[in-house]
Order: sequence, then structure tokens, then C-alpha cells
Amino acid sequence: MKVLILGGHGTLGTAIVKELNKSKKEYEIITAGRKSGDIQVDMTSKESIEAMFQKIGNVDHIVNAAGSATMAPLENLTQEDIKFSLNSKLLGQVNMVLIGSKYLNEKGSITLIAGIIKEEFIKMGTMYALINGAVASFAKAAAFDIEKDIRINCVSPSVFNESMVEYEDYFKGVKPVPVEKAALAFVNVIESDINGEEIKVY
Ligand SMILES: NC(=O)c1ccc[n+]([C@@H]2O[C@H](COP(=O)([O-])OP(=O)(O)OC[C@H]3O[C@@H](n4cnc5c(N)ncnc54)[C@H](OP(=O)(O)O)[C@@H]3O)[C@@H](O)[C@H]2O)c1
Repeated sequence: MKVLILGGHGTLGTAIVKELNKSKKEYEIITAGRKSGDIQVDMTSKESIEAMFQKIGNVDHIVNAAGSATMAPLENLTQEDIKFSLNSKLLGQVNMVLIGSKYLNEKGSITLIAGIIKEEFIKMGTMYALINGAVASFAKAAAFDIEKDIRINCVSPSVFNESMVEYEDYFKGVKPVPVEKAALAFVNVIESDINGEEIKVY
């Protein structure tokens, strides 16, 4: 089975690749990123996503482990911060579903990435709260609405232990999880028949 992992060389993406390689099932893994990975794509551009699928052809599963948003105090958010955040983690994932679903084999799956900040609020985290909430609702609604026989879900993890060096000042009071636990949630989605769910890894 052919699995596309967007952001496959990041903290989460690397862990997903590792867990897929440990599975008893055999996967052909394609990693994608703007600079890293087997194939280059910028998820903020529809044309770039389309060009990537033209090159790699149909896949069985799409996993999204990319996308970011601005962390800043609410009062300091600029229009550029808002546009950047929406274009990256939200519209990038919406377009990955709209375009990616055309290149997904029947019975395939798309798994998006949300995050704990949608319900455990942290200082400077309003853009992530907005986007993670929208991603989770979009994944469930898209699974309900899509005609093609594919599954759409999202994984919503807490901050990773491995990222605490970078983020510990922001995530005060939030219990981190090992990135391996979040990665396993993605593998479970691929290997099950879960559909229209938000899998919380808290
Ligand atoms: N880290 C955490 O604690 C945590 C917790 C919960 C949720 N999350 C979510 O998990 C996702 C991954 O986080 P991470 O910590 O693994 O991030 P990361 O280590 O920064 O990795 C992100 C990956 O995505 C790729 N990428 C970034 N922007 C892209 C774009 N526009 N188009 C295509 N590829 C792009 C990067 O590769 P290139 O640089 O080559 O593009 C990189 O491989 C994010 O959505 C994050 O919000 C993270």
C-alpha cells in the first residue's frame, strides 16, 4: 500500500514513518515537504499539491503531519499572521482533501492533524485554537459528505515530549505525550475502518 506523508521529515512525520515501518503490513512510503522528503510540495498552493499528485500518481493513504500557525498575543495578531495561519495549517489541509481525494484509491484514507490547543487554551494560542478546531470539524463533516468510498479522520495530539524544549514556555500546565503515541494513532487509523473521527491523543 502506498502512503503519502506530508511533513514526513518533521518531528511527527518521522515518528509516523518509523511506526509504519514497524507494522506487519507492507507500505511504500512517500514523504513530502517544501525542501525535505522524496517529493517537494508546498501545501499552501493548490497548484503545487496538484503537481505533486501528477508526479506520484494515485496513493492508498494520505497522512498530514505539516502546517503551522502564528503564536502571538491576540492583540498583536496582524492580518498577515491570520492569513499565514489560515493558508498553512487550515487551507493546506482542506486542499489536501479536495485535491488528494481525487488521487486516492477507493477504500483509502486521509488523516489530518489538529491539536490539543483547540480545547486546552494556552497563552498566544488563539490562531492554533481556531485552526485546530476548524480542522477537526472539517474532517468529520468531509467524511460525512464525501461521495467517494474513502475515510477521512483527524488526530488531535497534545504537545510532544520531544517538542517541549522548543515549546515548554507556551505549554505550561499541559501534559505532554510521546510523539510515538501520536504516530501510532495515525497507523491505527490507516489499519482500521475508523471514519469521521477525531482521535485525541492527550
Ligand atoms: N510538535 C508538537 O508538539 C505538536 C503537537 C500537536 C500537534 N502538532 C502539529 O503536528 C504538525 C507537525 O508538527 P511537527 O512538530 O512535527 O512540525 P515540524 O517538526 O516542524 O515538521 C513539519 C514538517 O512539515 C513540512 N512542512 C511545513 N510546512 C509545509 C508546507 N507549507 N508544505 C509542505 N510541507 C510543509 C516540513 O518540511 P519542509 O520544511 O521541507 O517543508 C516538516 O517536515 C503541525 O501541524 C503541528 O501543529 C504538533
